[in-house]
Amino acid sequence: MLFEQIRHGGCLSYLVGCDETRQAIVIDPALEEADRYVGLAAERGFRIRYAADTHTHADHFTATRELGRQLGIPVAMHRASPAPFVDLRLEDGDTLIVGNLRLNVIETPGHTSDSLCLVLPDRLFTGDTLLIGGTGRTDLPTGDPEALYDSLFRKLAPLDDRLLVFPAHDYKSRSHSSLGAERAGNPRLQQRDRQAFIDLMRGLDLAMPEHLSEALRTNRTGGKTVKQMIAEAGRAIAFLSMAEVKRHIDAGGTRKTKKPGTPKVAISAALVELNSSRLWSLLPIGFHGTGADTISQNSFSRLTRVWPSLPAMMAALTAPMEMPATHSGSKP
Ligand SMILES: [Fe+2]
Repeated sequence: MLFEQIRHGGCLSYLVGCDETRQAIVIDPALEEADRYVGLAAERGFRIRYAADTHTHADHFTATRELGRQLGIPVAMHRASPAPFVDLRLEDGDTLIVGNLRLNVIETPGHTSDSLCLVLPDRLFTGDTLLIGGTGRTDLPTGDPEALYDSLFRKLAPLDDRLLVFPAHDYKSRSHSSLGAERAGNPRLQQRDRQAFIDLMRGLDLAMPEHLSEALRTNRTGGKTVKQMIAEAGRAIAFLSMAEVKRHIDAGGTRKTKKPGTPKVAISAALVELNSSRLWSLLPIGFHGTGADTISQNSFSRLTRVWPSLPAMMAALTAPMEMPATHSGSKP
């Protein structure tokens, strides 16, 4: 069996294939690694047949849509996934057939309402339902500690201790565990009392993932990431040199010689957000240190003429993010 674990920061994804038929599936692929999955499969003589996500990720961008489009393969996710680009909506008891491999689907809501585990005869892809020495959090949108309790202690209960556990995250460079080892040593699995488990999950005070809003929006809608928008905008204004673009912008009102009293616009908060999210540094123009938070309306409209997707990008960055009622952690 082809089995590759691909690490992207703390995110783990998997390329799994059937030796006899040379068919493969990629599980929880990260957008930044999209070329790597395709390259790895080609190098080993495999064809990727499915791209699957174990749930809607809130901390990184999925590559399922990109791979689906690029390779002409179906995207598989839980039936409750909000993503409109999902082709195969999986539910309890379904089987994903990859050559001679059979991946059985177990719905395991809790970390998100669309979480599932994929089971092979000797191993288990747990997504963020069960991590090594922990579990996924339940304070992000659609998270539910009661559902996670049922998933961990009821849905996974019939599974064999010897199954290897391959999660979607690990921040300590561990590659895998086993269900037996987790049942014996994972602190969250020792908390068998339902209410105590729920209280434990509700009491966690976790910081928000760095790009929560952007990751959720992108993964739920199939929309573009800010980086993709910037790349596209960069291509769209390729007919202008960077120096020329900067001249356009500078001429629009950031110069010191500008008439006093020119109205400033209320986009300053958005631009400050852009600055603080460090995305400003990715801009394809030399705009740093030019008093971006006091850019004039005139300058902004000039900027959007050469960079049409900027307003959409700023709206995506600054729109408030809905938080679930169960949220009990620190502020984002
Ligand atoms: Fe997650």
